[in-house]
Amino acid sequence: MTEPLRLGIAGLGTVGAGVVKIVRQKAALLAERSGRPVTISAVTARNRDKDRGVPLTDYAWEDDAVTLATRDDVDVFVELMGGSDGPAKAATEAALAAGKDVVTANKAMLAHHGQALAQLAEDNGAVLRFEAAVAGGIPVIKALTEGLAGNDITRVMGVMNGTCNYILTRMESGGLSYQQAFEEADKLGYLEADPELDVGGIDAGHKLSLLAAIAYGTQVAFDAVELEGIGKVSIDDIRQAADMGYKIKLLGVCRMTGRGLEQRMAPCLVPATSPLGQLDGGTNMVVIEGDQVGQIVMRGAGAGEGPTASAVMGDVLDIARGTRLSTFGQPASSLKPVTAARVATPAPYYLRMALVDKPGALAKVATALGDAGISINRMRQYDHASDAAPVLIVTHKTTRSALDVALGAMAGTGVVAGDPVALRIERV
Ligand code: NAP
Ligand code: HSE
Repeated sequence: MTEPLRLGIAGLGTVGAGVVKIVRQKAALLAERSGRPVTISAVTARNRDKDRGVPLTDYAWEDDAVTLATRDDVDVFVELMGGSDGPAKAATEAALAAGKDVVTANKAMLAHHGQALAQLAEDNGAVLRFEAAVAGGIPVIKALTEGLAGNDITRVMGVMNGTCNYILTRMESGGLSYQQAFEEADKLGYLEADPELDVGGIDAGHKLSLLAAIAYGTQVAFDAVELEGIGKVSIDDIRQAADMGYKIKLLGVCRMTGRGLEQRMAPCLVPATSPLGQLDGGTNMVVIEGDQVGQIVMRGAGAGEGPTASAVMGDVLDIARGTRLSTFGQPASSLKPVTAARVATPAPYYLRMALVDKPGALAKVATALGDAGISINRMRQYDHASDAAPVLIVTHKTTRSALDVALGAMAGTGVVAGDPVALRIERV
């Protein structure tokens, strides 16, 4: 009989328990598809006594993830504990150093240590796979690494944090404030233990940095991602952007430019009728553009037990079948260091401001924009009861630096109350 592929699973929470269930419940299917049985030798978590909703008595228990990762009866170490450093990194390094293949869902660890871990895997003849780390159940790593390998990738973008998309969607559909929608997401258990990872754009930024490495053959450069969270998005912006035909999304965009690699994760406006504009709730969407294939849109569950375990098992079955790919689609030693683009590609911007309602106020704002070389595409002023008139402006394409000059000039006019909101409009 063909040798089984033997797993050691570290982490038995949402994803780990899901993986154990699939291995148990779909044993015949997995063996048929890969040509060999997939079994579990040993598991670990912090609390041995916790009920995981799945029997574990068939497997050896290890108290220590590093010991588990290096057991003789483990062929593939499946890291599902989380955390960028600590036991997840120590056990992953130990497994790779011992020549064992590793499958992980840990985007934080890879965003910070991806290059070193990919190199370690290669040096030891092991593979390191991470489909579940980006956009949960959507097989975007496989698409980018394999299916689209014959393309120059011109842009990758997406909504890759379901929690933020849920919050923004609920603000719009329920007329909720940011705080109310945040509390709702918290009650539903959507938020990470440190919510700033979600709402600060950090988790989605981790994912974007991994996609950029594959798309552009560069070393993972999370530190070079321009990050902005959703905490400042107001219900007014959501309503007024909708009035102009847009939705606000926490959108990640990466592209290689003549100025270097651009990686941005920030709230952006997208047309309400576009696939990204129509993405509601906790769902993820990744859009990839290649010079040969054109635009590909992938949509699906970005989190949760089934979808994430599904992605882990895709990697496990590849290994069972003998598919051996470089972590980021090409040898780690050939990945280029990143030069970060300091200036974002020009785009139209949405501006919302409150103008003192007196003659000439609008003219002063228009002059500030004109003097900075910014042309106005559309403008709307709303009826108002107070002294300040809400005004929306959509500009033609401009640079963020020109816009900052204009915003600085506006601040000196004495007609703008408070700080204007400026959000990029992404062409999708
Ligand atoms: P989780 O539910 O919090 O589970 C984490 C598991 O790791 C728990 O079983 C915990 O043990 C165990 N663990 C933590 N520290 C440990 C240590 N020092 N030694 C041994 N075991 C330890 O997390 P999760 O949601 O399954 O996420 C796991 C990984 O998948 C993370 O990297 C996460 O970012 C990634 N991910 C998750 C999702 C998702 O939808 N949940 C989606 C994509 C990617 P106890 O149970 O005993 O506390
Ligand atoms: N916190 C993440 C999200 C979990 O909301 O999308 C999946 O990575």
